[in-house]
Amino acid sequence: MTVCAPPRSPWHGETARLVAVEDEAPGVATYRFACGAPFPFAPGQFNMVHLPGIGAAAISISSDPDAATVAHTVRAVGNVTHALARLRPGAGVLLRGPWGTPWPLDALGGSDVVIVAGGVGLASLRAAIVALGRRRDDFGTLRLLVGGRTPADLLYPRDCAAWREAGIDVRTIVDRPDDGWQGPVGLVTDLVADLDLDPRRTSLLCCGPEPMMQAVAAACLARGIPSTAIFLSLERNMACAAGLCGLCQFGPAFVCRDGPVFRHDRIGPFLAVSHL
Ligand SMILES: Cc1cc2nc3c(=O)[nH]c(=O)nc-3n(C[C@H](O)[C@H](O)[C@H](O)COP(=O)(O)OP(=O)(O)OC[C@H]3O[C@@H](n4cnc5c(N)ncnc54)[C@H](O)[C@@H]3O)c2cc1C
Ligand code: FES
Repeated sequence: MTVCAPPRSPWHGETARLVAVEDEAPGVATYRFACGAPFPFAPGQFNMVHLPGIGAAAISISSDPDAATVAHTVRAVGNVTHALARLRPGAGVLLRGPWGTPWPLDALGGSDVVIVAGGVGLASLRAAIVALGRRRDDFGTLRLLVGGRTPADLLYPRDCAAWREAGIDVRTIVDRPDDGWQGPVGLVTDLVADLDLDPRRTSLLCCGPEPMMQAVAAACLARGIPSTAIFLSLERNMACAAGLCGLCQFGPAFVCRDGPVFRHDRIGPFLAVSHL
């Protein structure tokens, strides 16, 4: 998988027009942008989404890598993301990217892959799941474990149905069920504990809140999956995204330049340090 780098100056933003907004969950929507030219990226990479006059936020690219439009799935939490939620189709933004290390899909060939996502963390993994599904025969078992607070918070239900049809074992779990929920109740780590897996041939891709990723990584290590087969995507506040300002420093690494996808053996010791 090629790591795609911004073609021009790190400060160059591509003008993009909002063409569609799809509601995904309370406070979460997918925004589709047309750039006027192809926007190559590798699954796991992110853009700095700039709203001129307001600010910029790092957001994973959640579209199919082969799609003509670039999609971002965003939870409205602050200045930029609330302003994004107020945009209507036709509005313009600047996309600066793609940045960061992608999920190591080529290196996983032949292995069983367990993908674990919590909340909006599934956005970072969506392009990878699409790519893995297209190359289904290159891998052993493909399993996707998704956790959400409530059934309404589970993202991409239509995609999950399509991924099941593509041969991916998709399992979901919620902490707070509603009356119609018939699936399991609990944390996504409970689904990891239930998996029948061979640790010698299993790799893990995980994105979600950091405590959840720590718990999932610990559960996988306890099952015998080596640290070198565990990949986590970290979030830190970002400004330049180009390894220049230091805002995203995490131990000896810069999350924008050396991540966001890290192999666990590189960052594991720092995950336990609070406020790093
Ligand atoms: C590599 C990378 C990829 C990311 N991908 C996505 C993505 O695909 N979708 C997405 O929605 N976000 C994603 N984020 C998180 C996003 O960058 C932040 O939520 C961002 O700070 C929002 O900007 P803002 O200006 O709207 O909020 P700010 O004004 O910066 O923050 C407002 C408040 O929200 C809190 N806050 C920040 N982030 C979160 C959060 N994730 N959940 C709850 N509260 C939060 C802050 O602590 C602060 O109090 C990603 C971050 C990184 C580093
Ligand atoms: S955001 Fe500036 S160094 Fe990472």
